[in-house]
Amino acid sequence: MQIFNGKAALMDFLKSIKTLNSTIGFVPTMGALHQGHLSLMQQSLSENQNTVVSIFVNPTQFNNPEDLLKYPRTLDQDIEKMASLSPDLIVYAPSVDDIYEGKILSQTFDFEGLENQMEGKFRPGHFNGVGTIVKRLFEIVTPTNAYFGEKDFQQLQIVKKMVEKNNLAVNVIGCPIHREKSGLAMSSRNERLTEVEKKEAALIYNTLIAAKEKFQSSSSKLVSDWVKKTFDENNSFELEYFQIADESTLLPCIRKNKNKKYRAFIAVIVNNIRLIDTISLN
Ligand code: PAF
Repeated sequence: MQIFNGKAALMDFLKSIKTLNSTIGFVPTMGALHQGHLSLMQQSLSENQNTVVSIFVNPTQFNNPEDLLKYPRTLDQDIEKMASLSPDLIVYAPSVDDIYEGKILSQTFDFEGLENQMEGKFRPGHFNGVGTIVKRLFEIVTPTNAYFGEKDFQQLQIVKKMVEKNNLAVNVIGCPIHREKSGLAMSSRNERLTEVEKKEAALIYNTLIAAKEKFQSSSSKLVSDWVKKTFDENNSFELEYFQIADESTLLPCIRKNKNKKYRAFIAVIVNNIRLIDTISLN
């Protein structure tokens, strides 16, 4: 497995292996790899001649300094996991300086309102940070196909918008959420949960499943009220938001329209750890 810490050497290497019709698949990550990440890599390996994985905890997308500080960093284990998945993976694990060259700042993007909903309301600046790093990484890796998990569905839509507005030649591919047996969506942040919290956090997905069922015969408002009540009655979790939204605009569903695709989005805090999840409703 090839591992690069600097963009210059990575770019030279990618140039040297490029052939006329070869494709580069790209899986950007912040490390603390789990089965969800590995399945993105597997998909990329099966669809491209070359696959690059980046491991970089991006400071500009953290609005909360404590969250950045506590974000799990497990590079050695990550390298072991990738090596046992495939020796063909090309890993880019840069320093902050290799990416930001002394100026740790976000670019400001217009994502046509996608950035103002849900995560955008609760994490100011987050999506400018995501747009900045993903654009930077796309410039360095020049991928043909880039793979993102649907757990961060708002991020997926925002990356697609960034690619469209900047005319970038990258196919952005959304991939299904991987879950623990309990239903808890896999996330690097789960590493910070105790075993008891992990079990209890199954409530998040169970609530989404029940909300999906209720949405077939109830209004968005009634479903949202029910979800709020469910979390009000539970002392271990704080519900940050629950929103039923149009899948393409991410605007809240006020009145159901049978021609639209809806999705429920949820963010919950458990012992200072923020967990998000989402489910398609129709
Ligand atoms: O989803 C993530 O892990 C991050 O937001 C990403 C896309 C790697 C950018 O830092």
